Amino acid sequence: MTEKIVADLVIHALNAAVLFPTPYRGRGTPVGWSVVEQRDMSIASHDGHIVWIGPACEMTDQIRVTTDCAFINGQGRIAIPGFVDSHTHLVYAGDRSDEFEMRVRGKTYLEIMAANGGILRSVKAIRASSEDELFHESAQRLWKMIKSGVTTIEIKSGYGLDLENEIKMLRVIRRLANELPVRVIPTFMGAHVIPAERQSDSDAFVTELCEIWIPEIAKSCLASFNDVFTENKAFNVAQSLRILEAGKRHGLKPKIHADEISVIGGVDLAVEVGATSADHLLKTDDAGITRLANSGVIPTLLPGTSTFLMESHHAPARAMIEAGLPVAIASDHNPGSCQFFGASIIQTLAMLQLRMSAAEALIAATLHAAFALDLGAEIGAIEVGRSTDIVLIDANSYRLLPYRAGDSLIETVISRGIPVYSRE
Ligand code: NIG
Ligand code: FE
Repeated sequence: MTEKIVADLVIHALNAAVLFPTPYRGRGTPVGWSVVEQRDMSIASHDGHIVWIGPACEMTDQIRVTTDCAFINGQGRIAIPGFVDSHTHLVYAGDRSDEFEMRVRGKTYLEIMAANGGILRSVKAIRASSEDELFHESAQRLWKMIKSGVTTIEIKSGYGLDLENEIKMLRVIRRLANELPVRVIPTFMGAHVIPAERQSDSDAFVTELCEIWIPEIAKSCLASFNDVFTENKAFNVAQSLRILEAGKRHGLKPKIHADEISVIGGVDLAVEVGATSADHLLKTDDAGITRLANSGVIPTLLPGTSTFLMESHHAPARAMIEAGLPVAIASDHNPGSCQFFGASIIQTLAMLQLRMSAAEALIAATLHAAFALDLGAEIGAIEVGRSTDIVLIDANSYRLLPYRAGDSLIETVISRGIPVYSRE
C-alpha cells in the first residue's frame, strides 16, 4: 500500500477547481496555458504548499490529515488561484478626487501634472505623513485588496522622491509584508518623476539616484525591483538606462513604465536591460510587439488606468496575444490615474476594454502576473508544489467573476495554506 499524503488544510468537494494545463514546463516565456474547470475536486495542502489535487471521492483514501488540520467545505464553490496584482502604488496619502473631476471636464493627465497636480501632489502628501499614518491608511487598502482575492501584491515607492521619504515608503511596504497575511513584493521607484526641487538638474538627480539611493536601498534589503517611468516629463531613455543598470549592479531587478503616454523607446530599453516586465504599453505599436516577442519581458497591461484616464485607446492586448505574448494584467491602483479597487473589476475591464476572454483575463491576473514578479514557478496556479494561494468563489463558473461587475463573489481567501478571509 502506498503511503498517504499528509495534509494540514483540506478544501473538500469543490464544485470545480480551475487549472491551467499547459504543454510548457521549463524556463523562459510562458505561453499556451488554457483554463480547465475540473468538477467535484478536492485540494490538500501542507506547510503552505499544495500537495494533492484530485477527485473528491478519492481524498480519504489518499490523504492523512494532521490533528490540527483545517477543513473547508467547498460545496458549491469554485477554486481559482489567488490573484497576483503585479503593479500597484498602494502606499499613498489622501486623495486626488478633484483631479478626477478636472479630467472629466477635459483636462489631460499632463496638463494636470503641469498645474501642480499629479504625482508631485502625492509627493507632498507623503512627505507630510508619518510612517505610522501611512501604514494604517495603506493597511486598510491592502485588506480591501485581500477581500477581492489578491494573495500576492507588488507595491512601489515613488511618492517620496527624496531618500528619507523613499525609505519611509519602503519601510511601510515592509511592515505591510510582515503584518498582513499575504505576499507583498517591494519595488523601489525613486525614478517615478523628477522632484520639483530637482527639475533644473535632472541628470544630477539621476546620478544621485544611481550612486547614493540605489546602493543604500539595496543594502537595507528594502526592495526586490527597481522601476522607472520612461516618458517625456519623467525620465528619458538614457537616464532610464542608467537607473536600471545601477539597480542591476545592486541586485534590484528592472521593471519599466513604458509607452503609457508616448512611445520614446521604453520597450526597446526593457528588452535591452532584460526587464522582468514592461508595464502600461498603451501606445505600443506592431514594432514594439515584435520586440517583446520571445524577449522574456512580461507585457503587463493596466486597463483600469486607461479607463480612469478616459483614454479612447487601450493597450493592444489582442495583437499581443495573437503574437504569442504572455500578457499579464494588474490594477496599477494609485491616487491619480487609477482608483479601481480589487481584482474582479480589473478582470471586467480586461474583457471590456482589452477584449480579452474570461480565461485570458484570469491567466493574465494570476500565472502571467506571477511571471511579471519572477515568481512564475511558485505562485499563480493551482498545481501540486505551488504555494496554496487559493480563492473560493460563490459561483458555478469562474466566468461569473468578471461578468457580475461590481459585485463580490469572493467567499474565502487562502494565502500560503492559511484561510485569511472568509465572508462569514
Ligand atoms: O502607473 N505612470 C506613472 N505612475 C502612475 C501614476 C501615479 C499617479 O498619478 O500618482 C501610473 O499610472
Ligand atoms: Fe504605475
